[in-house]
Amino acid sequence: MLVGLGAVSTTFVAGVENVRRGRSLPIGSLSQMATIRLGKRTEKRAPKIKDFVPLTELKDLVFTAWDPIPDDAYAAAVKAGVLDRHEHLEPIKDFLQSIKPMPAAFDQYYVKRLQGTNVKRGKNKRELAEQLREDIRAFRKSSGVERVVVVWCASTEVFLTVGPAHQTLVTFEQAMEQDDQSIAPSMLYAYAALMENVPFANGAPNLTVDIPALERLAEERGLPIGGKDFKTGQTMMKSVLAPAFKARMLGLSGWYSTNILGNRDGEVLDDPESFKTKEESKLGLLEQILQPELYPELYGKVYHKVRINYYPPRGDNKEGWDNIDIFGWLGYPMQIKVDFLCRDSILAAPLVLDLALFFDLAARAGLSGIQEWLSFYFKSPHTAPGLYAENDLFIQQTKFKNTLRWMMGEEQITHLGVEYYEYADR
Ligand SMILES: NC(=O)c1ccc[n+]([C@@H]2O[C@H](COP(=O)([O-])OP(=O)(O)OC[C@H]3O[C@@H](n4cnc5c(N)ncnc54)[C@H](O)[C@@H]3O)[C@@H](O)[C@H]2O)c1
Repeated sequence: MLVGLGAVSTTFVAGVENVRRGRSLPIGSLSQMATIRLGKRTEKRAPKIKDFVPLTELKDLVFTAWDPIPDDAYAAAVKAGVLDRHEHLEPIKDFLQSIKPMPAAFDQYYVKRLQGTNVKRGKNKRELAEQLREDIRAFRKSSGVERVVVVWCASTEVFLTVGPAHQTLVTFEQAMEQDDQSIAPSMLYAYAALMENVPFANGAPNLTVDIPALERLAEERGLPIGGKDFKTGQTMMKSVLAPAFKARMLGLSGWYSTNILGNRDGEVLDDPESFKTKEESKLGLLEQILQPELYPELYGKVYHKVRINYYPPRGDNKEGWDNIDIFGWLGYPMQIKVDFLCRDSILAAPLVLDLALFFDLAARAGLSGIQEWLSFYFKSPHTAPGLYAENDLFIQQTKFKNTLRWMMGEEQITHLGVEYYEYADR
């Protein structure tokens, strides 16, 4: 069940259907394409992840969505302009047209640049959450699915911080009844999902499930939760490059990142309050990777700036520019320029697929609460209170694969490898 039926959701759904019909490959999806090494290098055991852990198969997936804009998935995909209409949309037009968004729990206060007509009405936020719960129950029944996962692929909401209403389930439910402003629509979906025993993953930087009340609810009900903000273009590159500088003890004096994008996401992020939510998510990771407290001479004075500029002609084909000022031996400066001409939703769609499948797996494996092993997919990983997030993409990948090995009772891979050499026996 997708919250939001915009560029990312339609690219994901249309992509899965094209793959199911044998027309395309699920490139970018670890659940479909990656292998996992097991045991010693000499054993040459490297099954595909999907053959190693019991994942739901693509043929068994059924989709639905909520959106305040009433367009069905075909109309929304055409508007988003991500996929080639002739090659990837027309052949599956009937399938896409059958996905019509349910009315959303939406409030323009939280996403200023959007106006929606397909919205739920209720006497307070709690009633809206109850309607979302009813939607989940009705979908279970009408689709006949055994299990459900909710993935937030909707807009970035205004910036919120954890407050008194978010502390316990009692305060949270009271706040919904009082239409408290600190309860954003995304929280209503998360609450509804958990109350219906459904895992919830958050693809946007919104606060949503990252609050004590919902963390506890997830633990009590044995449900996995996680987020925030799909790690796709510029930030994915940042989480690869910054660890490389640190690994070589190269200094960093500045990192200027700018983006131009022209899709609806770009329009929403043109609002300063939604941008602030995104900015926080994009800024935090560098400091966590570089650990300036441990390396003040190298990373104590980094000037880090992130900009997003709405530029309609570019559509979903974002351009992310980075100017990176580093310094080496004796302090000599050097520069690196990265110009990533990416496609936002093409990068995000496989993440939605993997998250849906791995959250479902986590639920079946009895993993509840925050799923830090899936931080590989997120810009601002959700972690236990007081624990700093691990943002290095390759540490995240190791954590991810070791968790799968652990689930299946296989040995952890430490990369020590002394056993391959004679001196190990001495
Ligand atoms: N594409 C990427 O690379 C990427 C990376 C990280 C995060 N994200 C996030 O993913 C989200 C989706 O991106 P997109 O490009 O598909 O945006 P989009 O604007 O095309 O789609 C978002 C949809 O969510 C709907 N929506 C807004 N509020 C809603 C609500 N309360 N309930 C239900 N639907 C609601 C909107 O009407 C819209 O159709 C955004 O928050 C974006 O910041 C995207």
